[in-house]
Amino acid sequence: MCDVQAVRLRSSNEWRYTRRAVIAGTVGFASAALSVQAKAGPSLKVLAEQGGLFFGAAVTAEALRLDSSFRSAVLNECSSVTPEISLKWGAVEPLHARLEMAAMDEIAEVARVNGLRVYGHALLWHGSVPQWAEAMLGDSPDWRYIRNYFSSVMPRYGDVVRYWDVVNEPLEPGHRDDGLRANAFLRAFGPVYIERAMREARLFAPDGKLMINEYGLEYDIPVEGDRRYLFLKLIEDLKSKSVPLDGIGLQAHLDLRKGKIFAKAIREFLREIEELGLVVVVTELDVKEADYAASLERRDGAVADETRRYLEVVLDSPAVRGISTWGLSDRYSWLRLTEDELASYTGTWNHEDGQGLNRGLPLDAILAPKRMYAAVARTLARRDLGR
Ligand code: XIL
Repeated sequence: MCDVQAVRLRSSNEWRYTRRAVIAGTVGFASAALSVQAKAGPSLKVLAEQGGLFFGAAVTAEALRLDSSFRSAVLNECSSVTPEISLKWGAVEPLHARLEMAAMDEIAEVARVNGLRVYGHALLWHGSVPQWAEAMLGDSPDWRYIRNYFSSVMPRYGDVVRYWDVVNEPLEPGHRDDGLRANAFLRAFGPVYIERAMREARLFAPDGKLMINEYGLEYDIPVEGDRRYLFLKLIEDLKSKSVPLDGIGLQAHLDLRKGKIFAKAIREFLREIEELGLVVVVTELDVKEADYAASLERRDGAVADETRRYLEVVLDSPAVRGISTWGLSDRYSWLRLTEDELASYTGTWNHEDGQGLNRGLPLDAILAPKRMYAAVARTLARRDLGR
């Protein structure tokens, strides 16, 4: 048995080694054998387009630059890319008034040159407020910090960005009646920060689609029921004040540990959104697995089934405009196994066969399409038939 320290070292070394080796093409993955056979047929972006939608994925500038096979996969499959990190405030302005746009510029340029759109994620998010801004907003609330950030990024990328996640994850049920998260913006400006951010964003992106993006809206568990309710309340309130809000992003980080997709509640939620005249984008689709010890076939089947169950419900809504997955390949998934999970699976996998990765994205770690890919393709194709 490994102690925790050993597991940590082993896992992080293994991850680095695996990642480097995969990029260099020196490691063969057992998973390839179980992948859906080499892909034939139209790409996801073509299937999406036929149904009037876009298909995209979150990417980093680094992966696009350093990993040419990944980059090709993105260009083949995607009509949109979402910067996973590079547009967030913490990335753009890590030090006050010192803008770092190189990574975001790279992503925007790849999009321009190849005719893709960029999904503008995400302006105000508690998870990426620069430290200086947390401190200064705490000391003396000054909206100019936010205006400067918006004015630095929105016009610069306005030619390729159509949708902007102006506010990301504003809700945290269980603390306040309105369900708003006590982030740096709420503390500094009160609940009106959301309205203010949307109005400010409109000044810098007159033709952009201004969105609020939220997670945890899919399952039949109390906190997600609360979030669906609070989200609708928030949206209704903003619309009643004629705040420029064009649509909502559903992150859709699906999770096989959370029980069943609550199809009925999602349908009702989407109907209300349609009635309010808003558009919907699935912004961060991926699937967190529950049982890493099962066979790859079972794991990939479970991930694909969950994806299909969710997309069948959401793609029924005429409000939906596109789908992005949070990464395209398991090679770059943000869903790493936690230390506890790794410890509990010690000995389950052969060293570098990649089975220790979460398999919740359309392509596996060697960029072979999995059953999740087929599930996305099939639900997109069905939408086309339904139109
Ligand atoms: C995550 C990225 O994937 C990580 O690489 C980064 O370190 C933290 O942010 N919801 C969101 C995304 O809206 O911005 C988050 O992205 C994942 C959860």
